[in-house]
Amino acid sequence: MVKYKELEGKNIVLGVTGGIAAFKAADIISRLKKQGASVKAVMTKNALNFIHPLTLETLSGNPVYHDTFEHRANAWEIDHISLAKWADVMLIAPATANIISKVRCGIADDLLSTVIMATIKDVLFAPAMNTNMLYNPIVQENISYLSQKGYGFISSKSGMLACGDFGDGKLADVDDIVGHLARHFENREGMNGINVMVTAGPTREYLDPVRFISNPSSGKMGYAIAKECADRGAKVDLITGPTNIEPPENVNIYKVNTAKEMYERALELYPNCDIVFKSAAVGDYGVERVEENKIKKSDETLELVLVRNPDILKELGRQKRKQILVGFAAETENIEQNALKKLKDKNLDFIFVNDIKRAGAGFEGDTNAGILFTKEGDKMEFAIQEKSGLAGSIVDVVLKQI
Ligand code: C5P
Repeated sequence: MVKYKELEGKNIVLGVTGGIAAFKAADIISRLKKQGASVKAVMTKNALNFIHPLTLETLSGNPVYHDTFEHRANAWEIDHISLAKWADVMLIAPATANIISKVRCGIADDLLSTVIMATIKDVLFAPAMNTNMLYNPIVQENISYLSQKGYGFISSKSGMLACGDFGDGKLADVDDIVGHLARHFENREGMNGINVMVTAGPTREYLDPVRFISNPSSGKMGYAIAKECADRGAKVDLITGPTNIEPPENVNIYKVNTAKEMYERALELYPNCDIVFKSAAVGDYGVERVEENKIKKSDETLELVLVRNPDILKELGRQKRKQILVGFAAETENIEQNALKKLKDKNLDFIFVNDIKRAGAGFEGDTNAGILFTKEGDKMEFAIQEKSGLAGSIVDVVLKQI
């Protein structure tokens, strides 16, 4: 048996739903117990038709929950809240199309769906169902929606299904499920003790108190990186220009407007940083003279003199001691050459470059694509994908260097 230290002492709520693979819940519990985890099982009404709760109760050494209104000895505890808090992670295995689709809609009409709604911990689904059900566009859309919202999925495998069909939809092997959970915790805790600084969003270069020059950066890529690092246990300082999106939880937010403000804050926080992700779209030029009062229109043309803003990243590169610097470049031409030049000029360890003319890789969308270069000359290409998924891949590559 492979021993995963990450599972030792973890509390796992196992949701069991009504598919033929429900009997495998017994094996999952027994393996998790052997890894040193504690398991509490919650069964749906349909799951009770496939496996007796006594089996899961005996293997887990804990009561099995299935009724929201069951009267327990410790009646002052509300099961769905105490389970939601007790869990370090929730694993739904097997997960039917029904539970996946209910969660997507926010339905909480039995104990399991209510615990899933009530928890702020990660929830991983291991789907098991007939191939046609799995590939039903509604189910696929629900899986994709939940993935975007941060729910995890342990892919089913191909094989002979209970209905006699051959195809995808078989519950992942129990070994794979246990390994996936271990990797989940490894990722979640892999950045404990690491200080990360992320810059995100646009800057504003003011002409007068109400007008400014800016760009359409949404901040989504930087926020996704900040969230990814915080979820993995890092201490994250997020310096953000003005955005319209919710900042991630568990990060220190520093709001700035101008490139100069971002420069000052970045330099102040820099000495304590281990890794910097410089994803902000910083204005290269600011207005030489910012008018104190609103500029009045006249019949004359208005001439503005723009002066260079400090290159924050270049300065960080100059002052670099122990830090790992990750730059971002949005390019429209000579993508690779420009990125490599910046990597060298700014003394970076990595640069992620995207071609903003390419559909799905722009400033404002939810997706991105691009190339990550290392200072050693390695090159990794990333296809169009959700910014959240891409953030995970970029962080994975950077962590290998520590
Ligand atoms: O030179 P360019 O602006 O294309 O470089 C992009 C990278 O440099 C990004 O990581 C961006 O956050 C950073 N940058 C900066 N200060 C500037 C301009 C860009 O830190 N004034």
